[in-house]
Amino acid sequence: MKPIKAGLLGIGTVGAGTYHVLQRNQEEIRRRAGRGIEVAMVAARNMERARRIVGEEVEVVADPFAVVNDPEIDIVVELIGGYEPARELVLQAIANGKHVVTANKALLALHGNEIFEAAQAKGVMVAFEAAVAGGIPIIKALREGLSANRIESVAGIINGTTNFILSEMRDKGLDFGTVLKQAQELGYAEADPTFDIEGVDAAHKLTIMAAIAFGIPMQFAGSHIEGISQLQAVDIRYAEQLGYRIKLLGITRRTVVDGAEGIELRVHPTLIPQARLIANVEGAMNAVLVKADAVGTTLYYGKGAGAEPTASAVIADLVDVTRLATVDPTSRVPHLAFHPGEMADLPILPMEEIRTAYYLRVYVQDQLGVMADLTRILAEAGISIDAVLQKEPGEKARTDIVIITHQTREKYVNAAIGKIEQLSHVVGQVVRIRLETLG
Ligand code: HSE
Repeated sequence: MKPIKAGLLGIGTVGAGTYHVLQRNQEEIRRRAGRGIEVAMVAARNMERARRIVGEEVEVVADPFAVVNDPEIDIVVELIGGYEPARELVLQAIANGKHVVTANKALLALHGNEIFEAAQAKGVMVAFEAAVAGGIPIIKALREGLSANRIESVAGIINGTTNFILSEMRDKGLDFGTVLKQAQELGYAEADPTFDIEGVDAAHKLTIMAAIAFGIPMQFAGSHIEGISQLQAVDIRYAEQLGYRIKLLGITRRTVVDGAEGIELRVHPTLIPQARLIANVEGAMNAVLVKADAVGTTLYYGKGAGAEPTASAVIADLVDVTRLATVDPTSRVPHLAFHPGEMADLPILPMEEIRTAYYLRVYVQDQLGVMADLTRILAEAGISIDAVLQKEPGEKARTDIVIITHQTREKYVNAAIGKIEQLSHVVGQVVRIRLETLG
């Protein structure tokens, strides 16, 4: 059988990795796919660099539309990233009856509903394993491996840049700004790191996982996003003393609030007990914890970025698409795990309604009655205390009091913090970090 023809849009780090792994393992991949997979065309801004990677055999063009409109191309591999022109290119490829493989989480989180609807109508596949957690086959696991289950929650370290920064802050006791600068110098963080450090990249990935875990549309706009740029080294240290690690977690969970079911969709720094495996995921690694009713808890770990780990996911999609290209579209695995007519209409819950535990740090004038005031306010709000840490008084007899609460609703904690900040012996604002036991 003739090889299937793929056209790459972009040949940066992931594109080059994809090309090299396809070349290196071509025989193994052909045996798996049932036919060869050939990169027949590449669109690249830097055509000379592209030619150095693919040689003279592969056609290199400057215009990505030349790839999506070429009748010889069966699969378009979108590795350009960003919203536009990626969206237009993917929709054009679909309109031309081509299958699409993409690593573009931002595109899918924001425009996935439109893209999957177009693909469904045209009977083509849009595969996106590389969009979430790089080389970890978490999309395959959620969509197919766990299809017997009612999935209850997904919680993950799904951004390597921030995990690297948090690991360094903890190991070396450095502050956020210093570590970010080092991470940029080492090439771990982008020159513009905003999407990574402010949690947006993780929220894109979480939005995609929530859609396939629960059979809901992509609802990025409903996600709650907090990054790590405000996190202070002192809180990482206190958390350690209390037996916790702070990680940037993406959490999505089915929850019932006042009798109605909804979905939590949130990214924020989170205290996790040190004893949990996921708390020990360090450096730029990713991990995703899935809780489901039949299988229980499963954990997926690996490299979330990089040329060949991401290429591994892109090529797995190419193999899937090659195997299923001739199959009746109704017999394929649905794009978002559930059949399009069977999607659930569950609302994303406002953050104020979420139930979780909290780490609170209050900077106080160390005087008689401070602790009594804090505990009274929390008790009046119905918030139960799990642990308290009080440090030695320092400058001007001021000190930190750290309180770990049991689970409560976010709105009750917010109200209590408002009252605590009005106390005359409380200095500045209360630091509030959410805590998940993940038990
Ligand atoms: N920038 C991402 C990270 C990798 O740091 O994990 C690509 O999604």
